[in-house]
Amino acid sequence: MRKQFIAGNWKMNLDTKQAAELARALLDAAGELGDIEIAVAPVATSISAVIEVLRGSKIAVAAQNCYWESAGAFTGELSPEMIREIGCQHVIIGHSERRQFFGETDETVNKKVHAAFRAGLLPIVCVGESLAEREQGKTMEVVSTQLKQSLRDLRDEQVTQLTVAYEPVWAIGTGKTASPDQAQEVHAFLRGQLMETFGPGAAEAVRIQYGGSVKAANAAELLSKADIDGALVGGASLKAEDFLGILREAG
Ligand code: 13P
Repeated sequence: MRKQFIAGNWKMNLDTKQAAELARALLDAAGELGDIEIAVAPVATSISAVIEVLRGSKIAVAAQNCYWESAGAFTGELSPEMIREIGCQHVIIGHSERRQFFGETDETVNKKVHAAFRAGLLPIVCVGESLAEREQGKTMEVVSTQLKQSLRDLRDEQVTQLTVAYEPVWAIGTGKTASPDQAQEVHAFLRGQLMETFGPGAAEAVRIQYGGSVKAANAAELLSKADIDGALVGGASLKAEDFLGILREAG
């Protein structure tokens, strides 16, 4: 059985004080939550403060991105080793906003995924189609290519440890959620693709999160689907009560 994994992607929001306060509020309520895995992804400048608050708790901390080299003349970048060293367990890689605004490609995602494993970080690898791609009937083709290219040359045992996040771009920050059946269809397809490439062990183990306008009101139905193993939450992870509402629906 896959344990549900709910992660809050805070994107470029909350200053250090606000981030630490939100982490504290989540920590205060963590004891009453079910047997689920939880992570939050603050902006890089707040990671240390959030880790300080959450140290020793069941809430893990993720970075929102990393570079693939360990160190060197790469102004503005953070290596996975540096992210691991300050205490992160996870790193989000290939978010659609990075693909859209910062030139991320399946090739750079693949390099970053390998680098994350090298550093001992567990990647959350994002895939998802745009509205135009969905309307042209290309959803499965797009997510299949993204998945296969992003995970190229990984070993089966690495794949079992990573998380895939299916985030249809048209559902991110728009209030438009994929229906539970629409999401389940893509999740089942992605699991089938993992099976073809990495075998049944890996396909059964990988958690596939859904992301795109998840909130407390729609979380239970999404999470009840066979191949939806958690959520990657943006806007609704920025307020403790909203995120806790989703966490209470999981498990
Ligand atoms: P929203 O939950 O704000 O739609 O964002 C989803 C997302 O992009 C999480 O990574």
